[in-house]
Amino acid sequence: MKAYQIQAGTGIAGLKRVERVSRALEAGEIRVRVSAAALNYRDLSFAKGQFYNPPGYPLVPLVDGCGDVVAVGPAVTRFKEGDRVITSYYPRWIDGALSSAKTAVSFGAQIDGTLTEELVANEDGFVLAPNSLDAIAAATLPCAGVTAWNALFVAGAVKPGASVLLLGTGGVSLWALQLAKAAGLFTIVTSSQDEKLERVRSLGADATINYRTTPEWQDEVLRLTGGVDVVVEVGGEGTLARSLKAAGAGGTIVVIGRVSGGGGVSIEPGALIGGAKRLVGMTAGSRAMLEQLVRFVDVNKITPTVDRVFSFDEAPSAYEYLEGGRHFGKVAVDVRA
Ligand SMILES: NC(=O)c1ccc[n+]([C@@H]2O[C@H](COP(=O)([O-])OP(=O)(O)OC[C@H]3O[C@@H](n4cnc5c(N)ncnc54)[C@H](OP(=O)(O)O)[C@@H]3O)[C@@H](O)[C@H]2O)c1
Repeated sequence: MKAYQIQAGTGIAGLKRVERVSRALEAGEIRVRVSAAALNYRDLSFAKGQFYNPPGYPLVPLVDGCGDVVAVGPAVTRFKEGDRVITSYYPRWIDGALSSAKTAVSFGAQIDGTLTEELVANEDGFVLAPNSLDAIAAATLPCAGVTAWNALFVAGAVKPGASVLLLGTGGVSLWALQLAKAAGLFTIVTSSQDEKLERVRSLGADATINYRTTPEWQDEVLRLTGGVDVVVEVGGEGTLARSLKAAGAGGTIVVIGRVSGGGGVSIEPGALIGGAKRLVGMTAGSRAMLEQLVRFVDVNKITPTVDRVFSFDEAPSAYEYLEGGRHFGKVAVDVRA
């Protein structure tokens, strides 16, 4: 069976095509014929050796995937042959609050991921795919989708009519935009490019700001809203201090990523104290959150924004395309093509 493998820190050039032998199923395991996979910033970080807790050996990369169950092992109770499933980011985080044990393992980082024709793993690490989406679109739920869900509705605890600030037009931010609009929230989106801002307006963004031509974008956010209720903070070093200012009294800054850099940020205690703002870190989501997202997607007929789909042979080009930053939303791989 065809697959790719990569060892953390070897760069995109370290992504190698391999042939693997199918193994017998153990108790609780299912065999999934993967149809589609999708890339995330974390997969680039893994390739570059910037991801936490990587193993010292090559594994199959990517966490996002959708496929069909082709066999079930002994004692499997949740799935049957023919079910269409998607991966759950942390196979051991089923529900409730996270713990280091629940988040110790994720697909494509500590165990084999989805850039393969066939994935064998415990049934705990999967949920049924949304009925309303094709395999490529469904493959984008496990990382960016559930992260956006957690950021808005769990960590951010948005209320009806709340305002949210979304930074850039990457996978997490566009997922958050589409979920926020379906939930009736007021959305502000930033981007480095006006043409991308035009596209987010067509997806329903209520206000847009070019963060290159308006470097003090937090002032514009304050002018528009008086301070947002939730910031989906994917920027890190270059944006966090401004995001803090952009949040209103009682607002929550959900700290998710570091696309502008992972270095230290100087924050004055007063920036949080006076407005009683909350700075909350979070990571992906539980399987229960993913199941809620699947229901929400089906009910609201949300089609995630997939920018470009690469064939299996072109997977290294998909990494390079994501690294180039020209994408708008998700970058995917059609494993069958
Ligand atoms: N905590 C978690 O569990 C979790 C889960 C998923 C992702 N993440 C993290 O969240 C971040 C985003 O992930 P992703 O997969 O959505 O990445 P992505 O799809 O690669 O998004 C990259 C986008 O970020 C935007 N960007 C770059 N520099 C920016 C800046 N200074 N200010 C505002 N936007 C900027 C750009 O948007 P424009 O081109 O429009 O300017 C770029 O297209 C990454 O750091 C990732 O590791 C964390």
